Order: sequence, then C-alpha cells, then structure tokens
Amino acid sequence: MTLPRIILVTGTDTGVGKTMTTAALAAALQQHGHAVAVYKPCQTGNNGGDSDMSEVLRLAGPLRAEAGIVLEEPMAPVPAAEIDGVALPPLLVHAERILSLASGHDYVLVEGAGGLLVELDHDGGTLAALGSVLGSRAGFVVVARPSLGTLNHTALTLEALERRGLHVSGVVLGQWPATPGLVERANRAALGSLGVPFLGALADGAAALEPDAFRERAASWFEGVAA
Ligand SMILES: Nc1ncnc2c1ncn2[C@@H]1O[C@H](COP(=O)(O)OP(=O)(O)O)[C@@H](O)[C@H]1O
Ligand SMILES: [Mg+2]
Repeated sequence: MTLPRIILVTGTDTGVGKTMTTAALAAALQQHGHAVAVYKPCQTGNNGGDSDMSEVLRLAGPLRAEAGIVLEEPMAPVPAAEIDGVALPPLLVHAERILSLASGHDYVLVEGAGGLLVELDHDGGTLAALGSVLGSRAGFVVVARPSLGTLNHTALTLEALERRGLHVSGVVLGQWPATPGLVERANRAALGSLGVPFLGALADGAAALEPDAFRERAASWFEGVAA
C-alpha cells in the first residue's frame, strides 16, 4: 500500500510507541529518497526533558522536525497550558503549518499527544478533528501495543476514525518482542485481520539502537509499505 502525503500518527494510548513509529517511518521514507518533515502540534513534559521531535531528530535526522507549542508539565495539553498560563494554538494554525510543510516536502508526519481524542486546543479540537480539516490529503496510522487488552483499544480507535469518515492507513505495533508469547502472536494475527492494513511492527529494542542501525533497519519494519 502507499501512504498519504500527510500521515497522522495516533496511538491507542500514551507510551505505545508513537514517537518511535514516527521516527521509523521518517527514516524508512527518507531511505526511499523522500523529503520528510515531522510536526508535533503539542509537546508536553518539557520540564522532565520530554521532546519527541528531538528523539525523532536523533534517530532519523537530519530532517525538519518541529513542535507547534511546548508545555512544561507531563500531562494533557489543555491542563498543561493552563498551568503554564499560555493559550494553545487553534487547530487551524496547526493545519496551516502542516500544509505549509507539505508544500515543501514529499511527506509530513504528525504525531498526536496521547490518543486520538485528546484535546489539542481550547475548542475541543482533537487529532481526529485535525484529520477532518486536512481531508483526503491525510491518513491515520494507529500505533498499538502487542500485549493483552490491545484488541479492544485498537478497535475503539478504529471505530472512532471510521465514524468520522477518516482515512485509516493502517496499524503498527510499536514494540514487538524478540520472543513473542502466545498472547502477542494471537494479537498480531487478529490485528492483521481487522479490515485495515497491517503496516508492520517495530522490533523491541529499537529505541536503544544507534541511529545508524535504526535508520538501516527502519524500512524492514514496514514490509507492507511501498514508499
Ligand atoms: N520498539 C521499541 N523498542 C524499545 N523501546 C521502545 C520501543 N518503542 C517505544 N519504546 C520506548 O517506550 C517508551 C514510549 O515510546 P514512545 O515512542 O515515546 O511512545 P509515545 O510516543 O506513544 O508516547 C519510550 O521510552 C520509548 O523509548
Ligand atoms: Mg511520543
């Protein structure tokens, strides 16, 4: 399958491997000769050193990677902005920036905050709503865990996307163990027959790879993707 030019990377939860998947997709697309930009509408947790774009740059750079707004506390954007005493940019500001990046790059990867329905602005705007604004140019990649509970979480996220008429590019497992157990193997098989493309699985330990090794291996994690 081919990916849309704007790829919205969401997850079934926080900490499922969205940033790793974004970095791996960026590296894989660049290996195929594409110009890639990465955008994080709302980065939280700056006071603890969280910077998803720095992580993407470390693993897949050099490339253009930027955040729309950086907030100090490691919590959802709306309360984090309240604590910082700043206003979040409205969704349309993010959409304009993404479209501007798309005009100068082959692909733009957009990493959400937490899951699909986390609010990114003060009007209830979510990554799902950003997808609606961007329309047919954009598609969603859903990053899921391989462990017990993932089938329900993944189905809920896919149902929310379908209900809104949003395009699903496929599902990625963010952390596939070197020696998967019965549960992980059954989950992978089930996620592969949900009616949406199964794009691949990142090897567990990907985050600990040296950047050169990460870049070299990234394409092999997305075997179903023609870039
Ligand atoms: N494939 C992987 N191998 C090793 N560690 C991983 C892998 N994917 C994610 N991690 C680690 O798990 C944590 C959460 O991953 P991250 O990509 O930051 O998730 P998210 O962006 O969804 O919050 C990070 O500490 C990251 O380094
Ligand atoms: Mg992240």
